[in-house]
Amino acid sequence: MKKLSVDLGERSYPIYIGQDLLSSANLFSEVIRSSQVMIVSNTTVASLYLTQLSESLIEYQPRSYLIPDGESFKNLSVMQDIVTQLLENKFSRNACLIALGGGVIGDITGFAAACYQRGIKYIQIPTTLLAQVDSSVGGKTAVNHALGKNMIGAFHQPAAVFSDSKALNTLPDRELVAGLAEVIKYGLIRDEAFFVWLEENIEGLIARDTACLEYAIERSCINKAEVVARDETEQGQRALLNFGHTFGHAVETGLNYRGWLHGEAVGLGMLMAADLSCRSGWITEDKLQRIGSILQKTGLPLSLPDELEYADMRGLMSVDKKARDGELFLVLLKDIGDAFVTSQFDEKLLQFTVEHFTSKASGD
Ligand SMILES: NC(=O)c1ccc[n+]([C@@H]2O[C@H](COP(=O)([O-])OP(=O)(O)OC[C@H]3O[C@@H](n4cnc5c(N)ncnc54)[C@H](O)[C@@H]3O)[C@@H](O)[C@H]2O)c1
Ligand SMILES: [Zn+2]
Repeated sequence: MKKLSVDLGERSYPIYIGQDLLSSANLFSEVIRSSQVMIVSNTTVASLYLTQLSESLIEYQPRSYLIPDGESFKNLSVMQDIVTQLLENKFSRNACLIALGGGVIGDITGFAAACYQRGIKYIQIPTTLLAQVDSSVGGKTAVNHALGKNMIGAFHQPAAVFSDSKALNTLPDRELVAGLAEVIKYGLIRDEAFFVWLEENIEGLIARDTACLEYAIERSCINKAEVVARDETEQGQRALLNFGHTFGHAVETGLNYRGWLHGEAVGLGMLMAADLSCRSGWITEDKLQRIGSILQKTGLPLSLPDELEYADMRGLMSVDKKARDGELFLVLLKDIGDAFVTSQFDEKLLQFTVEHFTSKASGD
């Protein structure tokens, strides 16, 4: 088992990565200081892992609250149901919530913990690759509003993160590969050596080799923890984590969040950002090819869906959160392992990039 730390002064917390952590009763008792514990999960994940987790928490006689599976349940009404459960069970400020699931469960449970009696403790037990390498670390919590994703939220750090690599065995292939996009992101934005390791080990990751997966989770969490420790509330450097996301969010919004997974949209978004970086003369053709090649090996989709053309994409990109005062800021690459934020890109080159990835253009 590996133990990392997110260094945030008195809000610092450990990340444990290993096998069978769901059964690690002794580790849980190091973190939980309350007799009031509630596990929040969804019906899919609970049917796989709730019994195992409840057994290791037996001394707390944990309650559980299950929500249906899906992003559409990450909303205020479900969050209020969680709060109602806490109130009905007379949970105090000293209580502890446990998020057992992917990013949807982590985000809504974290937000409920941030709000209940102005903030109670919670633990992240992420069960998707995306949640293990990204959403469980860093304290961003949120629910969706009908008018926008993640529009109601708070920064609230967990008390600990337990990433059990064995839980990934049941994850559908498509979800695993979508998580790999966020893993590759860390290599591209700030860790060239990790990118080289990923180039050499991508087949092992896709084949779910445990050692490969645990190393990738560890290295991703180290990178995320470093960024978060320097810029907890996204005033500067944390924005680099949005590499590929302005393009990706445009795809997700353009498709009404149906059809493509977040990581799939980010995978294509990263390739588009790399393509624009190359057209702008910031990275070489050779580096762009290496990025294209690793993404291709994952099987992530690498051209835009039929219904999205340049005008749609450009319109959607300018409503992205990163468009400040009407000016579009993009995270681009100066090198593999070196990203920067800029609004100083050539609009015409952006158009060429987007057009290059439209379904009509692909196959050229
Ligand atoms: N807070 C953050 O910093 C942050 C960062 C990135 C993404 N997010 C959020 O995370 C969410 C996406 O997370 P996600 O990709 O984990 O999706 P998800 O939580 O919807 O999980 C994906 C699917 O996998 C299933 N699943 C989960 N674990 C499983 C397992 N071990 N075995 C089998 N099936 C399993 C889930 O039930 C679901 O059907 C979005 O809401 C996004 O906004 C948050
Ligand atoms: Zn993402």
